[in-house]
Amino acid sequence: MALQIIVGAQWGDEGKGRIVDWFAAQADYVARYNGGDNAGHTVTVGGQIYKLHLIPSGIIHPETIAVLGNGMVINPKTLLGEMEMLRSVGIEISPKRLRISAFAHLITPAHRALDSAFERARGSASLGTTGRGIGPAYTDRAARRGLRLGDLLAPDFSARLERHLDEANRTLAFLGAPTLEPGAILSEYLSYAQVLKDYITDVSLELNLALQSGKSVLAEGAQGTLLDIDFGTYPYVTSSHTIAAGALTGLGLGLHAVASACTLGVVKAFQTRVGAGPFPTEIGGELAERLRGSGANPWDEYGTTTGRPRRVGWLDGVLLRYAACINGFHEIAVTKLDILTGIHPIRLCVAYEEDNRRLENLPLGPLNLERYRPIYEDLPGWDEPVSHCRRWTDLPPAARNYVERIATLCGVPVRFVSVGAEREQMVICEARE
Ligand code: IMP
Repeated sequence: MALQIIVGAQWGDEGKGRIVDWFAAQADYVARYNGGDNAGHTVTVGGQIYKLHLIPSGIIHPETIAVLGNGMVINPKTLLGEMEMLRSVGIEISPKRLRISAFAHLITPAHRALDSAFERARGSASLGTTGRGIGPAYTDRAARRGLRLGDLLAPDFSARLERHLDEANRTLAFLGAPTLEPGAILSEYLSYAQVLKDYITDVSLELNLALQSGKSVLAEGAQGTLLDIDFGTYPYVTSSHTIAAGALTGLGLGLHAVASACTLGVVKAFQTRVGAGPFPTEIGGELAERLRGSGANPWDEYGTTTGRPRRVGWLDGVLLRYAACINGFHEIAVTKLDILTGIHPIRLCVAYEEDNRRLENLPLGPLNLERYRPIYEDLPGWDEPVSHCRRWTDLPPAARNYVERIATLCGVPVRFVSVGAEREQMVICEARE
């Protein structure tokens, strides 16, 4: 493996963390290229559950270097909390093991306050953001007034932060939201600078040199393809590039890296989404509750960051085909197949219908999704538990048939099928007989 890019194929929460965890053991670097603490990865190792929002889950492997790329927006408070949590469970956190791009943008309390105030102002048209200040931080980046991690090291950082808070306060006042007191925030951020200064570096240079010298880099995307700022269900998207190409701009990788790259799409065996926006295959009622789970288990369908119940539905093959095209998936991993045990039949959306016309592909990408009616294929389910399966042939024939249908629909081979939350609960399809 040289460059491997792991991307969510749906609206996030596909279970990327555990696929990254699988590969991270052999990777020299695991690098996050987009988003911030809106993401949440749950990784279960030996019964121990790790919840991470910023630091790539690869940090759990002692030989792997974790990287936070320039495409990210970083809340230093969350970051320091994670560093402490990981230390407390015996994981080494030092500049030897963690690198932070000087070009990544800082999230401040003003960004979080603005996120909530804008959502309130949108009223019934709110986007259902995670409230982590992601949109306002990327807005400042695009408006060229953002604060970057590298700025923490500048002698005039306090003055710049004060200017940022002044500007934000004017907008907050305009929106009728409480304004922020700069004093405490200034001293808080100066203390973060002291801790983080040794971790801030030129990530792009290091990763390019590493790839040139034959080392392996695992690029980890947050959220999913359908939340991409351009290629997702705009405006119900996040503010970064979640797709595979985001790994190049979000880590500063040269195009030479592409020649050896492998892009793996992570596809949940059914569809979920948190927050507002179109969802053609959404279902309700008892079946939805069953797919969602009660919330008692960490793998149930409740947001890792916000705890919100996720909307659930049947797998959407039209959107999956779109994701495979936009990202150029070389292979896919199908996750949470075990959750479908005992469901009869299993429905799979294979095309859309609009005005009695069958559409195999989207005429305008995921624009105007609400116009389409899904056309389903009903596949037989299975009753046998699958959590013990490790080889392709261990899976019941109906489960194999479902997975094969997914592969055919998007034209991409399936490399893994996950059948439970533990690291080893994975069917490796290369072992097909
Ligand atoms: P934001 O990223 O907080 O601005 O939220 C924008 C949209 O993306 C909302 O619908 C969120 O629910 C969704 N979103 C953001 N991060 C994640 C994630 O990690 N998983 C799933 N949905 C997410």
